[in-house]
Order: sequence, then structure tokens, then C-alpha cells
Amino acid sequence: MKPKIILDCDPGHDDAVAIMVAAQLTEILGITTVSGNVSVDLTTENALILAELVDLDAGVHMGANKPLLIPPKHAEEVHGKTGLDGPTRHKVTRQATSSDAVQFIIDTVREHDEVWLVPVGPLTNIAVAILQAPDIVQRVAGVSLMGGSAGAGNVTPVAEFNVWADPHAASVVFSAGFANLFMAGLNLTHQFGVDEETILRLREINNPPAVFAAELFDFYLRSYQQRTFGQQVPLHDPCAVLAITHPEIFSFESRNVSVETEGIVTRGMTVIDERRWSDRASNCQVGYEIDRDKGMNILFDVIKTYSDN
Ligand code: BDR
Ligand code: CA
Repeated sequence: MKPKIILDCDPGHDDAVAIMVAAQLTEILGITTVSGNVSVDLTTENALILAELVDLDAGVHMGANKPLLIPPKHAEEVHGKTGLDGPTRHKVTRQATSSDAVQFIIDTVREHDEVWLVPVGPLTNIAVAILQAPDIVQRVAGVSLMGGSAGAGNVTPVAEFNVWADPHAASVVFSAGFANLFMAGLNLTHQFGVDEETILRLREINNPPAVFAAELFDFYLRSYQQRTFGQQVPLHDPCAVLAITHPEIFSFESRNVSVETEGIVTRGMTVIDERRWSDRASNCQVGYEIDRDKGMNILFDVIKTYSDN
């Protein structure tokens, strides 16, 4: 049976691929959107573009337009002005099912057993849902998020974008007491990179999602190379989906993770207790390794299945 998930996202190039992967490998109960890579109006429109592309049988629910306590910050230098720069932008015909992502999350978790929350953007919606309905923490199967790092950051030396953009929300999520909280941070996602060969293989698959992904990666890889001189651009967000569907390609370790919300130079850092003698209880399964080849083959196989539809 496919895992039931709510995908909370801010598309975003890698969010878009997370949607493509999740639409085949999981039962998406709904997509919720959040202010992050671009404004929530654009992340919602982008989620609708993807929902149409993969013919998703679930609604898109618009969420928070700003973080809990700080002004919104975006990542246009990474994802372009639309958040999905690259492919030709078609007008969407679908509309958002609701503009209350938080209520959708609460209701869905209360109505269904074994729901996974999969946040791959700033954690605002999930934090507000927890604050409004703490019972959901015990109800869910777990949370598998993309965020944080057990190493370097990407916005600051120590902070990763999703946590940095709303550190107070991230702090609520990490300290909520989830029985299963999986973290795919930058130390992991940087092992899962897209390069020119990935783009070629997608072009060979040549169905609409494959072509869309290839055009996304043309932009995403180029923009990353200009900023970092890196050869591969990390495909962050699909890792949070694959962590649920293919845990065997990852290695995770139990750790205590807390979020720095105040620090002048460390705000948005995920502080991971690596001490073997730690007196802090583990609250998180931190991802340390992914088998890139296996992960990429799963990705290509998933994208190929769109040719059968
Ligand atoms: C995260 O930030 C966003 O730009 C990506 O979509 C990903 O979720 C990586 O730091
Ligand atoms: Ca994202």
C-alpha cells in the first residue's frame, strides 16, 4: 500500500520534482503551499501547474503568506522570479481547493490514520497546525522533512533556507515530540545532485513531466553553477519523499536536534547533538547518506511511468 502523505511545499524546482515523484509513489491526500522560494501566491500557482501536469487527483490548499514572527524571505536567485523559471509557463486552469492549508492539515490528520506530513519548504503551516491542534502530533505516522543541515548551510555558513526562512516554526516542529521525525538536510541532499547526464536521460524519456523536469533543470543547474561553480545541483526535496518510500537507500541516525532562533550569526541553524554521551533525548532521525545511483534510478523509473498514462 502506498503511504498517505500531505506534501507541504513552496515550488521551487526541486519541490516540483518532489510532486512528480510523490504523485506516483505515494497517495497524496493534498498539497499545501507556503511562502518560501517565492510568495505564497506564486508557490500556489506553481503547485497547480504541477498538479495539472501530473493529473493529480487531490487538491492544492494555499497556506501561510509569511513566517510566524519574521518578515518573508524568498530565494529568487535560486528559482527565478516565478519560482519555476525555465519551462514555458502555461496558464493554469485548476484553482486552489481552499486557502486554509492549516485547517486542511488538521482535518486530514484527524480523519485518516497513518498520514505522513512531508514539508519541503519553510515549516510555517506545520507549526501553526501543531499549535492549533497538538493532538495531530500523536495521530500522524510521522514527518519527513527537507530542512536543516548536519554540516554547512546554504543561506548562511550554518543555516539552510527552509529553517532559516522560519526558524520559530522549525523550532516548534523539532520540539513537538513526533515519534517519527526524519530530517533530510543539506549534508544529505548534496549527495543527490542533478547534472548534464540527468538532463539528457530525462530528455530521452520524453514524456511531458520528463521534458518539464529537463527544462527546469536546465535553469536550476545553470543558475547553481553560476553561483557556486558546482557541477551538480542538489535535488533536495525529493529526498524527503524517498525517505518514506525507499528508506533502504538512506542511512539515518537518531539525534537530538534543536533550532537556533535568536543567534546573531547562527539564526536558523539546526544544532545537532553528535555527542555519544549526550543527555539530550533523540527527537529526530537525521539523514547522513543516500545512495545516489539507486535514488536516480528510482527517479527515472518514476518519471518513465508517466509515459504509460
Ligand atoms: C531548500 O530551499 C529551497 O530553495 C529548496 O526548494 C529546498 O526546499 C533547500 O535549502
Ligand atoms: Ca522547497
